[in-house]
Amino acid sequence: MTTVKLGLVGLGTVGCGTLNILKDNADLIAARTGCRIQVVAAAARDLSRARSCDTVGMSLTDDPMQIANNPDVDVLIELMGGTGKAVEVVRAAIMSGKHVITANKALLAEHGNELLALAEEKNVMVAFEASVAGGIPVIKALKEGLAGNKINWLAGIINGTCNYMMTEMAKPGNDFAPVLAEAQRLGYAEAEPSFDIDGIDASHKLAVLASVAFGVPLSRTGMLIEGITMVTAADIAWADDLGYKIKSLGIARRRESGLELRVQSALVPKSKLLANVDDVMNAVMVNGNAAGTTLYYGAGAGGLATGSAVVADIVDVCLAIAAGKNNRPALGVPMAKLASMPILPKDDILSAYYLRLDVTDAAGVLARISTSLATEGISIEEMRQQPDTKTGSATLVLLTNVVQEAAFQRALAALNGLTDLRAPAAWLRVEHLS
Ligand code: NDP
Ligand code: HSE
Repeated sequence: MTTVKLGLVGLGTVGCGTLNILKDNADLIAARTGCRIQVVAAAARDLSRARSCDTVGMSLTDDPMQIANNPDVDVLIELMGGTGKAVEVVRAAIMSGKHVITANKALLAEHGNELLALAEEKNVMVAFEASVAGGIPVIKALKEGLAGNKINWLAGIINGTCNYMMTEMAKPGNDFAPVLAEAQRLGYAEAEPSFDIDGIDASHKLAVLASVAFGVPLSRTGMLIEGITMVTAADIAWADDLGYKIKSLGIARRRESGLELRVQSALVPKSKLLANVDDVMNAVMVNGNAAGTTLYYGAGAGGLATGSAVVADIVDVCLAIAAGKNNRPALGVPMAKLASMPILPKDDILSAYYLRLDVTDAAGVLARISTSLATEGISIEEMRQQPDTKTGSATLVLLTNVVQEAAFQRALAALNGLTDLRAPAAWLRVEHLS
């Protein structure tokens, strides 16, 4: 029986989740791999801290480089996070001939091309199922289950914190700040929660998904990255009235001229499955030219869910070690075979739009608004109006047809120039996901 020795860097939410699965499901995992898996070493910053997992029998250190350079470790599991020390640790582990498993999407998005090329050179595996959508095996689905497809587009709810917050904020009386604090308490948020609410974490994950789906290098250059801070309770309520939910989405779409890559808050029709993915759950829809549209759903964050994906990679790496061969390329194709596809500028995005306008309730206002939109070839598909007789104002809510972003932004500037508007127009994109 092959023995595979693991070194774990990070004993936090995911590190302990992983250890607990390896312990609780030890017999099952041994039967599936045919390997004896031993966690021989682990690192954390503060070794005196109480842990929610058992580290008995492991050599413990507060220096992750000791694990990267430990000749007794076959596979380094990087669950410390960040793009500082973690990059050095992963690079050193690869240099010393270790396979690497990581949940660190920031590391992959920022340094993945260099590290994966180095891993190919050193003939070691780098696996990262846990880096996107927690417990959902979406990387495996793209690399293996859909390997026969040309991927046309994918769209996903890929940040559990944002989805949890949007779900909670749709309930009466729940405000942004306390809902974010609760997401942090539950262990969903990143160490720096602005990574979640500003769309940065989702952009890291979208870079990983796009790379595996389209066979392009890992990069966020040119990606549109927007967070959830502009979404108000009023917009959530209006969207509901119109038959939509507001979701934070990562979208990657192949168009003839290049790739659209965007992280944004958008209205999604309630009839679509993605609109009904709530709380910390994640889901990714993938459209391939053979399978059509498939959907992957599950817990997007949390120790056990994410640990499940880490353990799936451990199983794969152990099987490959036992078979004496390297696994398939990390991104599905060798690094030298990655394609170069231009990332389309924001102006080229094709989308429908939601507009909420606070206007003076007077004759001719609607005509002037329609003219500003029509001048850019934008038509109104649906409209709601709510007058406020006390203030002599009205709220107008509009949904447009699908147009190019540049045309919409010109119309928006024209609208904001109208003296009829009492405040700048609020707007969001509308995604029909087809
Ligand atoms: P935590 O903050 O809970 O855990 C990080 C662990 O790394 C801690 O044990 C910490 O030690 C240790 N650590 C950090 N820096 C150092 C260092 N310089 N030297 C030694 N040890 C260090 O993070 P998570 O478990 O939540 O996240 C880990 C990774 O997984 C991140 O990349 C994250 O983005 C990713 N991820 C997280 C998910 C989640 O649901 N939380 C889901 C999917 C991916 P100590 O405990 O002593 O502070
Ligand atoms: N902070 C991340 C999220 C953790 O909320 O989705 C999972 O990657």
